[in-house]
Amino acid sequence: MATALVTGGTSGIGATFARALAGRGDDLVLVARNSERLRTMATQLSRAYGVQVEVITADLADRTEVERVVSRITESEHPIDLLVNNAGFGIHSLLTNPDTSAHEHALDVMCRAVLILGGAAGRAMRDRGHGAIINVSSTAGFITMGGYSAVKAWVTTYTEGLAVELAGSGVTVTALCPGWVRTEFHQRAGIRTGKIPSLGWVDADVLVRDCLDDVDRGKVISIPTWRYKIAISLARVAPRGIIRAISGRLSASRHS
Ligand SMILES: NC(=O)c1ccc[n+]([C@@H]2O[C@H](COP(=O)([O-])OP(=O)(O)OC[C@H]3O[C@@H](n4cnc5c(N)ncnc54)[C@H](OP(=O)(O)O)[C@@H]3O)[C@@H](O)[C@H]2O)c1
Repeated sequence: MATALVTGGTSGIGATFARALAGRGDDLVLVARNSERLRTMATQLSRAYGVQVEVITADLADRTEVERVVSRITESEHPIDLLVNNAGFGIHSLLTNPDTSAHEHALDVMCRAVLILGGAAGRAMRDRGHGAIINVSSTAGFITMGGYSAVKAWVTTYTEGLAVELAGSGVTVTALCPGWVRTEFHQRAGIRTGKIPSLGWVDADVLVRDCLDDVDRGKVISIPTWRYKIAISLARVAPRGIIRAISGRLSASRHS
């Protein structure tokens, strides 16, 4: 029997991971800020799938609260076999905004916490000779849409670095790079979605299913659906000037 720890497991992609993992019989540890949503999710999942669900209320922007999650990850009595570093949000702030707090908050939650939790899980899993880490990145990391792209480019590159460091240890590391997924993400960040073509949306269940298959295959970068695989392959070889021009148009269409 395996245990998975999912950050941001109460909504959107994290909640979809939680349901898929419970559905295959994994026990869960869910981490988020809202205790009531955590409790509701835990009750629903344990009733529906008969698995154990622990919850940790923690704000991953807070270094001390991240350490509480580290303590659970490194607990040897009840080991964590899969870490899903998923908690995150969009950034609706220009890079030239004199108030850099939104960007700093994003770095704390989507880079610093990912680094600390990923390192802790990597050490604990390496010592046991098995385990898997999924870092939820984004296709935005392959283009240049402001601070969010920079953060997600870091997540993808960090994942590859950790995968290199843990190669041969029995621990796999995977960056999941979704395109647009219908979750609370856009509303929370004040991002307009009206101009996103229907082909741009990826179903969360398909995303998670394909990602878990990629983890089983030991893939380091998981890009859901053929249309995104092709689009990102093109983006990786296209001149950067073209990528910047497309990114500028996409950014302009999304901000209200
Ligand atoms: N949706 C998309 O189109 C899309 C595309 C590419 C990548 N992603 C990435 O997918 C991940 C999940 O996003 P989502 O779309 O599922 O968004 P979502 O529906 O808004 O869910 C975000 C989750 O993260 C938790 N969270 C946010 N800030 C937190 C903090 N400071 N500490 C602890 N937990 C926190 C939230 O719970 P609380 O509010 O209770 O803390 C919630 O459970 C993010 O990393 C995002 O960048 C999303």
